[in-house]
Amino acid sequence: MSAVQRVVTSGTFSLDGGTWEVDNNVWVVGSGDEVVVIDAAHDAKAILDAVAGRRISAIVCTHAHNDHINAAGALVEATGAPLRLHPADDVLWKMEYGTALPYEPLADGETLTVGEVTLEVLHTPGHAPGAVCLYAPGLGVLFTGDTLFKGGPGATGRSFSSFETIVESIRGRLLALPSETVVHTGHGDSTTIGAEAPDLPEWLARGH
Ligand SMILES: [Fe+2]
Repeated sequence: MSAVQRVVTSGTFSLDGGTWEVDNNVWVVGSGDEVVVIDAAHDAKAILDAVAGRRISAIVCTHAHNDHINAAGALVEATGAPLRLHPADDVLWKMEYGTALPYEPLADGETLTVGEVTLEVLHTPGHAPGAVCLYAPGLGVLFTGDTLFKGGPGATGRSFSSFETIVESIRGRLLALPSETVVHTGHGDSTTIGAEAPDLPEWLARGH
């Protein structure tokens, strides 16, 4: 089985009084009999099908927008897996779960090991204050959640977001990675660091 599996799930994202239909990428990463689930979005059953009986060593949230975490409760209930979230997103987390579902705080620079795969936690605020990316140097892969997409930075127009901050995160932390690094995003197609890096001036000019 491949070390990286993608599951696309569908549902809604709500913030600031609006609700939008969205498709999310859930990434199941690992080797052997152990995996990490990156973003428990919308559909715990679809995620469990992809996990296929392997042990979930952690459910890692790239950020706490509700479309990325709304299946976390059901997944924890089904598996008992530990939840991990950067605590700077606590305000968003509590909008979905209140204090009913505890998580263990993620820290910048922390390393998660799953089978033979190592994931480095990069705190990349901007889309959300507690947004993180996960870098797997051994695979040459970066999981960016909603921080970097094919075509530019994640949205920063709603509450708790900042365009200046996301640009700082992308420029300082992500574009410093090898250009051939494959970028697996929270929505839509994958890209590479080298494909996106030349467009930074364009993003700055357009302001999103
Ligand atoms: Fe988001």
